[in-house]
Amino acid sequence: MAGTRTTRTMWLVGAAVAGAAAVAVWMTWPDGESRTPADAPGKSRVPASTAAMTAGQAVFDRHCAACHGPGATGSDRGPPLVHRIYEPGHHSDAAFHRAVRNGVRAHHWPFGDMPPVDGVSERDVTLIVEYVRGLQRAHGIE
Ligand code: HEC
Repeated sequence: MAGTRTTRTMWLVGAAVAGAAAVAVWMTWPDGESRTPADAPGKSRVPASTAAMTAGQAVFDRHCAACHGPGATGSDRGPPLVHRIYEPGHHSDAAFHRAVRNGVRAHHWPFGDMPPVDGVSERDVTLIVEYVRGLQRAHGIE
């Protein structure tokens, strides 16, 4: 019967939409770390990501700050990474990994090319990204 089929099709579509919504929620749900209750007695308000940011800063200071400046504010050799151009929507985390591995041909700024950076592991770059994204957020760049 046509009526039954329509009902069933609608049910299936509904189930598919609900499933997609559940996946979307699951994918955007903050990870456990960022849900740590910061106001619990005896707990610091500093977000759990600070350890990674601190580690990232150490690598950044050693390998990137000479050009990108302390706190990624820029220098006469390279641009600030705390800048709207480098917000996540324009330069994804992958862009950071690519930049370190392959270098960057000058295209946004007049500083010349960025050479590939040796001695910085993928894990190091992940920490650097954590640090730079934290600085960006502190400046309202998200
Ligand atoms: C020798 C100087 C120098 C060093 C060292 C350096 N950079 Fe760069 N970097 C540059 C310059 C110059 C640019 C801008 C190129 C342009 O767009 O004109 C740049 C651009 C970038 C970009 C943007 C890439 C894109 O897709 O446009 C990222 C991300 C980046 N650098 C990350 C890093 C990180 C992380 C480190 C340290 C591991 C680092 N850089 C070390 C000079 C440097």
